[in-house]
Formats: sequence, structure tokens, C-alpha cells
Amino acid sequence: MSAGLTAPKGTFDTLPPDSARFLAVRDTLTAPLRRAGYGYVETPVFEETAVFSRGVGESTDVVTKEMYTFADRGGRSLTLRPELTAGLMRAFIEHRLHDGALPVKLWTVGSAFRYERPQAGRYRHFTQVDMEALGTDDPALDAEVVALGVQGFRDLGLTDFELLLTSLGDATCRPQYRELLVAYLDKLDLDEETRRRAAINPLRVLDDKRPEVQAQLDDAPLMVDHLSDTTRAHYDAVRQHLTDLGVPWTEAPRLVRGLDYYTKTTFEFVHSGLGAQSAIGGGGRYDGLSAALGGPDVSGIGYAVGVDRTLLAVQAEGLDIGATAGVQAFVVPLGAEAKRLAVRLVGQLRQAGVAADTVYGDRGLKGAMKAADRSGATHVVVVGERDLAEGVGQLKDMRTGEQHAVPVGELFQRLRESVGE
Ligand code: HAM
Repeated sequence: MSAGLTAPKGTFDTLPPDSARFLAVRDTLTAPLRRAGYGYVETPVFEETAVFSRGVGESTDVVTKEMYTFADRGGRSLTLRPELTAGLMRAFIEHRLHDGALPVKLWTVGSAFRYERPQAGRYRHFTQVDMEALGTDDPALDAEVVALGVQGFRDLGLTDFELLLTSLGDATCRPQYRELLVAYLDKLDLDEETRRRAAINPLRVLDDKRPEVQAQLDDAPLMVDHLSDTTRAHYDAVRQHLTDLGVPWTEAPRLVRGLDYYTKTTFEFVHSGLGAQSAIGGGGRYDGLSAALGGPDVSGIGYAVGVDRTLLAVQAEGLDIGATAGVQAFVVPLGAEAKRLAVRLVGQLRQAGVAADTVYGDRGLKGAMKAADRSGATHVVVVGERDLAEGVGQLKDMRTGEQHAVPVGELFQRLRESVGE
């Protein structure tokens, strides 16, 4: 006997009724973007591998260890997107969107794939809501982007989240800071593996969670103390705008992101109810991404929110979002003739925009009433043989338990009116 087929390791299926919550979270997170004039984009879930190796950075874990890369039948190296920013930037350049009015504001939502060690909140296939504002380096835009992320979480009713904010400098000040940090790390007692990591990206060491490493980092130089005058002014302006927008933040000078393209404003949204995988979203500005992908020298900023993790946060706070996505009306026919009436009535209701359903297969009265109950309908019509003989159906208000006979010819109208009450 062969083993049953299951979803691949690190992936999962989203089924009703949980899927209603997933959709509600996804749509609530995107609503602020639509209200702020961001346009919807779709790009392929796979791209030429170079989009990510050049875009995300050759030295990142994402590129070196986590990409699903394969050769297609034509011998091209393709990669399932580990994130959505690089693909959006590729499309921005390919379609010369930079020739139009700037900034170009885009959003998308969809699957991302990373070959990570699965654990609660960390999957190999997950969903991101991603937004990018491209082509303008205005600090007011940084504040808009961050505030839109916060708005999405607020609209969900979340309260136990925090915005971590810092500036990672830019090409005018980061190289000098990097040298300072390397010199500092050189003097520490670090194992070989950590030294190798420091040689590739010294900033990563600041993020090392081990106490024996952290203990040595107390006096480590921080990027925010070594910003150039222009990047400092940019960061100050971003914070001023955030204050004006009523968005609180926590300074996080040791914040290190897993992707290499960040410059200047960089941030993460963390939730306290999620354990180790606490980041529900993250993002920042990137000056070099466009040029790295062969585009013009323009800056961009954006973020991605993990929909799956945000759903976990919603559950951790006990919020009831999307839990009642059932139908409004349900028709229970008993007998063949009543069945025809039920199918017709449900068709009419749906056409009129009322969410309606009926039972299929021979369920009997008890089974059919159970289905009606589970459907979430506020109004249920039961049509038995005796009712039909009298030309009526029994309309029941499930909230009050009240029930009365309604002439068959009036059922559609009555139901349509009742569900609107
Ligand atoms: P990221 O921080 O790598 O940034 O991912 C953003 C969010 O996606 C994370 O905060 C997390 O909620 C979710 N996420 C990441 N990996 C996983 C996983 N394995 N399982 C479940 N959820 C996950 C980016 O992807 C950047 N592209 C964001 C960005 C947009 N920066 C600028 N523009």
C-alpha cells in the first residue's frame, strides 16, 4: 500500500471555515493601500534567478540557502519568488514605469517560497501583502508607507504590535561605518562561523541572539550614530512626519533585516503574541535595487506583511475577524417538488445579491436542519410536502426562533427583505 499524499513539508492547506479569516485578514491589510492610491500589480510567481540573486543579495540566507531554484525544460534557471519586491522592481524597469509620474505606487498579494526550517509561523510557502512606492526619495513618502502598514494592523483590531524603526544609512556613510564595525568585531572573542558571517555582512552579528555574543556587543558602534548629514536629516524628517501622523515607534538601532537591499529608513512590525517568529511585517527604503536590476538610479520604499503570521496574531489577541462568513438565507426542501422550488429560489436570491444555499443529496429533515444551522443563515425556509399542498413555505428567523407560513409566490420577496433588516 502506498503512503497517502500530503501537503509538502512546511506547507499547509487553508480550509473553510478558517479560510474566511485568512481572506478577511488579507483584504483588511490591502484596504489602506487601495485608499491611498496604490495600484494593483501581478507578477509571475517565478522569475529568472538573477532577479533575486542580484536583487535580494548574494550573501543573504534567502539567496544562498532558501531559494527554490530549478532549470525549466528550456534550460533557463528560474526561481520561485522568495519575496515580492525584486519582481515588482523588475516589472517597473521592464515597463519603463519610471518614465511616468513619480512616485509609482504599487501593491500586490500572493505566494512566496523559502526553503526554511518549518516551525510555528515559519513556512516554506506563505502569503505576503506587498507594497512599494518607487522613484522618489521624499521622507514624507517613507512616513506614508510605514503609516499604511500600521493602519492595516489597526483596522484588524490588533493592539499588541510594535513598530521597530531605524536608519541603515546609505552609500555615503555605510562603508565608513562598516569599517568601524569590522574593526570592533575583530577584537572580540568570536567563533569561526561568526567570523565568517562578520566578513560577509558584519551587521548580521549585531543581530546574533546568543548571550555570549550579545554580552560583547554593548559598546558596538551603531549605524544611527554615524549617519551622514543628509541621511540624518532624512531620518529626522521621517520621524517628524510619523509623529504628525500619530504613529508611535521604537528606535531599533540594532535592527537587521534578512535582505541586503535596504538603505536609510528600515523597519519591522513585531507582535508580542507569536513567540520566536514575531515579525508580522517588515520593509524599508532601497537606493540600489533598481540599478542592481539594470534600471535607472532611482530609490524606492515598501514593506511586506506576512498574511499567515498576521492571522496568528489576530488569533493570539482573540479577535473574531471574518468568523461569520456564511450565507444569509438557507432553503430546506423536503421531497422532489419542493426541491425544484428550493433550487429556483436559491438561484433567484443569489441573482439578487443575497448569499443563499440549500442542501444537496438526500439528507432528511434532521440532516438538512443541521446544514441550515451550520450555514450561518439568519433566515431559513423549510418547504415540506404538506406546505406545498397548501402553497406555503415556513420562514424561520434563526435569531429569534420565530416562524410563520409565507405563500410560495412571496417567499423570494420576503426573504430578500428580511435578510436586509
Ligand atoms: P521579509 O521581512 O523577508 O521582507 O518578509 C516580510 C514578512 O513576510 C515577514 O515579516 C513575515 O511576516 C513574512 N514571512 C517571511 N518569511 C516567512 C515564512 N517563512 N513563513 C511565514 N511568513 C514569512 C520582505 O520580504 C521584503 N520584500 C519586504 C519589503 C518590501 N521591503 C521593501 N519592500
